[in-house]
Amino acid sequence: MLTRKQMLDMKNSKEKIAMVTAYDYPSAKFAENAGVDMILVGDSLGMVVLGYDSTIPVTVDDMIHHGKAVVRGAGKTYVVVDMPFMSYHISLEESLKNAMKIYQETQAQALKVEGAGNVLPTIERLTEGGIPVVGHLGLTPQSVNVLGGYKVQGKQKEAAAQLLEDSLAVERSGAIALVLECVPKELAALISEQLSIPTIGIGAGAGCDGQVLVYHDILNYGVDRLPKFVQTYGDANQQFTEALGNYVKEVKAHNFPAEAHTFTMDPTYLPSVNG
Ligand code: KIV
Ligand code: NA
Repeated sequence: MLTRKQMLDMKNSKEKIAMVTAYDYPSAKFAENAGVDMILVGDSLGMVVLGYDSTIPVTVDDMIHHGKAVVRGAGKTYVVVDMPFMSYHISLEESLKNAMKIYQETQAQALKVEGAGNVLPTIERLTEGGIPVVGHLGLTPQSVNVLGGYKVQGKQKEAAAQLLEDSLAVERSGAIALVLECVPKELAALISEQLSIPTIGIGAGAGCDGQVLVYHDILNYGVDRLPKFVQTYGDANQQFTEALGNYVKEVKAHNFPAEAHTFTMDPTYLPSVNG
């Protein structure tokens, strides 16, 4: 299991942190067997697993349900679970209760929250209570309707200064790492230099201390459009469609099941039927 110190050592020795999302038992096993350093149970599960068109409908119970399955599949890997939409905004007390429930029930190693500002006291209190927190700045998908779409953040002078300031504040509040999503590479590199905790980029260039991608995007698995920042390393859409199509064809053609897939019995034991 990755430790806090190893994470910092990786940053300092410029060994990149490889993180991938996972949402269930098999994806977690594949990720662990592939040697990822960290797994994120992202609330992106709302889109890639549950078919919603944003992360907004995802609930605390959804995160627990999927988080538990991931931890069962990847017991030796550092697992971070997203706190979902509005589960850490109503009051500090409610945020802490939701965090405690997710952390205790999933047995994950850390939780992730989006934003700075009013979220900073939550990061501080969770850390104080013993729950490691990963921050998430830049494009924060839970705020998509406030940001006005899924677009690059921090391109302008003021926004760039704010993003650096927020990143430093997230670190000061006790976060153990920071996800930077859809941030110009120049700014992400600067933030990575200025922080002592690792940055994990998605659409934020090679200057981050680590990278994270969505499992389904890496494998082109059930997704119909891929963001610019994704590189696919497989084509499940093609292979799975072909495999399932072959199954359908063989059933229709009376070719499946074959003898090898079949159980037999002594035919004299068959019940006699009338007519
Ligand atoms: O939910 C998610 O998958 C994420 C990553 C894209 C960082 O938050
Ligand atoms: Na997320």
